[in-house]
Amino acid sequence: MLSEEIKKDFPVINNNDIAYLDSAATSQKPQSVIDAEKEYYETFNSNPHRGAYSLSIKATEAYENAREKVAKFINAENPYQIIFSKNATESLNLVAHSYGLTNIKENDEIVLSIMEHHSNLVPWQFVAKTKNAVLNYMYINDNYELSDEEIESKITSKTKVVGITYISNVTGTINNVKKVIEVAHSNGAVVVLDASQAVSHIKIDVQELDADFVIFSGHKMYAPMGIGVLYGKKELLNKMTPFLMGGDMIEYVYEQDTTFATLPNKFEAGTQNVGAAVGLSKAIDYIESIGFENIKTIENDLRDYAVQSLAKLDFIELYMTPNRENHAGVISFNIKGVHPHDVASILDMNGVCIRSGNHCAQPLMRFLNIDSTCRISFAIYNTKSDIDKLIEALKKTYEKFKMYI
Ligand SMILES: Cc1ncc(COP(=O)(O)O)c(C=O)c1O
Repeated sequence: MLSEEIKKDFPVINNNDIAYLDSAATSQKPQSVIDAEKEYYETFNSNPHRGAYSLSIKATEAYENAREKVAKFINAENPYQIIFSKNATESLNLVAHSYGLTNIKENDEIVLSIMEHHSNLVPWQFVAKTKNAVLNYMYINDNYELSDEEIESKITSKTKVVGITYISNVTGTINNVKKVIEVAHSNGAVVVLDASQAVSHIKIDVQELDADFVIFSGHKMYAPMGIGVLYGKKELLNKMTPFLMGGDMIEYVYEQDTTFATLPNKFEAGTQNVGAAVGLSKAIDYIESIGFENIKTIENDLRDYAVQSLAKLDFIELYMTPNRENHAGVISFNIKGVHPHDVASILDMNGVCIRSGNHCAQPLMRFLNIDSTCRISFAIYNTKSDIDKLIEALKKTYEKFKMYI
């Protein structure tokens, strides 16, 4: 029942007769987030950190309050450890360039899980190639999970950086990131935790996790597009050189030399997205008003209902762990013999929005020996009726294609 109430807060869901099952790509935004961004542009839009007039001071305050809100939300020690970027991809590139290129040396090892989104993979390929370092992968087992043995055997004393996604955006596997962090630290490596698929579903406590870098995008957690987050341990961030250079990230600039600002400004060159930061702050309020316990109950219920319903269709192939406690609200599947893009198009005609393709995880697809999948993913506004609609549309799709299979 709670989900039916929650649904009313999301205009895109109310204004379209759809089952929106693509929240892993981007979530819909509640009215409060839309209103907050609109209010910023209607009443105090101005360039932060620059003006001495009250409008600019208000914009600066709103921007810095958003930083404090994010810090509290993930239990960071200090707000200055929160760096705003434009999305998770930019945050991941920041770490690869500013930390990776300085600290990775020839023959050092970078270890990634094979589940990484291209955003936490391609930048590390660049670092490995540039520095003549070795890029190794931790592979998943038949249950689509990383085993402890795999983690322990791939992370070695030569490993300097480990990149791991908290939740796979393809299989929905929730990785044992605590184990990864523990093994990495015991080998002297730092961990880059991609929390893009986790941050709106699981409570992230950076101190409890002891993660070195944690990254996520606002737009997957009910906030506007155009804002991303990087959390870093302060001793690491302080030692890193800036990624982007220009206005607002400097202390003094001379003709031939520059000294840089302190954290967080050192990593925030140019005019920042205040409107999106204001929206992100409201999105955190929204998540906290529902609470992670309720979110877990809603999304686990949906996951269980969807898995049971899909398992009844004998023409469906599922790519997911059988261990429910390690599986989030992301489910990949195929109709045997039908291309996922065809499935997605027919579902769309029936008012069901899903994702089809390789999900920016081509190495994982190759490892699984498949080309692409259909993917559904849930957020707190989904209900069982969305899944019923999906199942009916899948049956129709199969009917249309079965003579060709
Ligand atoms: C696990 C994961 N990491 C990173 C990203 C990249 O996020 P963005 O496109 O917001 O930079 C995504 C987007 O789908 C993702 O699922």
